[in-house]
Amino acid sequence: MGRLIINTEKKKSKINKNIYGHFSEHLGRCIYGGIYVGEDSDIPNVNGMRRDVVEALRQIKVPVLRWPGGCFADEYHWKDGIGPKNSRKKMINTHWGGLVEDNSFGTHEFLEFCRQVGCEPYINGNVGSGTVQEMSEWMEYMTFDGVSPMAGLRRENGHPEPWKIRYFGVGNENWGCGGNMRPSYYADIYRRFQTYVRNYGENKVFKIACGPNGDDYEWTETVMEIAGKFMDGLSLHYYTVPGDWNRKGSAVDFTEEDYYNTLKKTLYMDEIITKHTQIMNRYDPDNKVGLIVDEWGTWYDVEPGTNPGFLYQQNTMRDAVVAAINLNIFNEHSDRVVMANIAQMVNVLQSVILTEGDKMVLTPTYHVFDMYKRHQEAMLVDVYAETEETGKGGYTVPNLSVSASEDGEGVLNITAANLSLDTAYPLECILAGSCMGEHASVEGEVLSAGMNAFNDFSHPEDVAPSGAEGIEVTKEGFKFTVPACSVVHFTVKRQ
Ligand code: AHR
Repeated sequence: MGRLIINTEKKKSKINKNIYGHFSEHLGRCIYGGIYVGEDSDIPNVNGMRRDVVEALRQIKVPVLRWPGGCFADEYHWKDGIGPKNSRKKMINTHWGGLVEDNSFGTHEFLEFCRQVGCEPYINGNVGSGTVQEMSEWMEYMTFDGVSPMAGLRRENGHPEPWKIRYFGVGNENWGCGGNMRPSYYADIYRRFQTYVRNYGENKVFKIACGPNGDDYEWTETVMEIAGKFMDGLSLHYYTVPGDWNRKGSAVDFTEEDYYNTLKKTLYMDEIITKHTQIMNRYDPDNKVGLIVDEWGTWYDVEPGTNPGFLYQQNTMRDAVVAAINLNIFNEHSDRVVMANIAQMVNVLQSVILTEGDKMVLTPTYHVFDMYKRHQEAMLVDVYAETEETGKGGYTVPNLSVSASEDGEGVLNITAANLSLDTAYPLECILAGSCMGEHASVEGEVLSAGMNAFNDFSHPEDVAPSGAEGIEVTKEGFKFTVPACSVVHFTVKRQ
């Protein structure tokens, strides 16, 4: 029997709801087909946005959505995506399959989608191939309420009121696809570009600088030193790639060794965040700059027979465990991590939703976001978990990943993943610092399946959560046996 000791008296940091954020790029079928089908489509839609997708995303309470990229952001010229659709410029999407991008989904459409989903927009500007003026005018177009060329243009295009845009990224992966810059060069460029990203009226912009690639600590050191005072957030990208970039591995056809190797690589996120945080602490001891993990998730070889530039992959129970581990890590680091955006929302990499024509399927990762949503804006509480090592073929990982939070009503939410493929784990959960009242209740839900199990259009519910049966409420807390290869969520009401 393992023990989980939760000290509700020891509140740590507030879990920013934006940790449960998403990312959408003009890549493959994420935007076109996944989110947007156009007003004339036979697929049920509201102003061109898929009804089924919007509804599913509202259910998981998506707080924030990043757009238009990714690598696409640094070759995107926003003025090509406004005005009458038939006169919008077409362009080549050089990064992703060399396809023609007709710009029918632009600023107005993205902000309409965010309105329907009920999330905040996070817009990523173009530094790599754009100009200071272009970036500056985009903000003026979206947020200025007075008389100006850009505000006038927005009105002409049918949106009299300005939008509220809080999150704005100044470039993406500028160490790579965003211009192959060195950190000191980018830091200076960042200082210049961000100067002209203006606050208009009530709209206060939260400026996000391009941060490191995984464990590139030199990037963080240099950018923080030179430009730390000019930013509100620093991004971090880290993908879980089981193999290497040439042979990443299959999304569905993998061995037990591959499974543990994947989890080991995911767990590295904790070390990366810890070390970047240590650097940030030196330049920003007052914790003014948030760490924004605005690209994370699994990256496998594309599904056989699909366009290699579309990054379409299936999503199994392994991905659910990966999501659970990452979200627990972000919760645990919520003193510095204020946003995270899984890559990507629909039909690309570790998606929460897959679509095919008018069909839609919710992936195992979707269910994890649904189970974890009660952590949003709650206070992280201290958890001590007794763990054992598990693994195969030299890939060793702890068997348990946990986090817990208390909401404004004193309700405790505990999320955990059992990483072991073969051992169910009897768990005794002890609530230190508070006892279970006479009318205490514990409810739970479990997502459990074989590691390779997935949902597809003919079997949409092979991996789906069910109620946790057999929870035993005790004086100190409760007991429950967590199945092998599973994700669980408990809600504890103590009165
Ligand atoms: O998410 C796919 C790509 O991964 C993004 O465009 C880029 O920022 C990253 O390298």
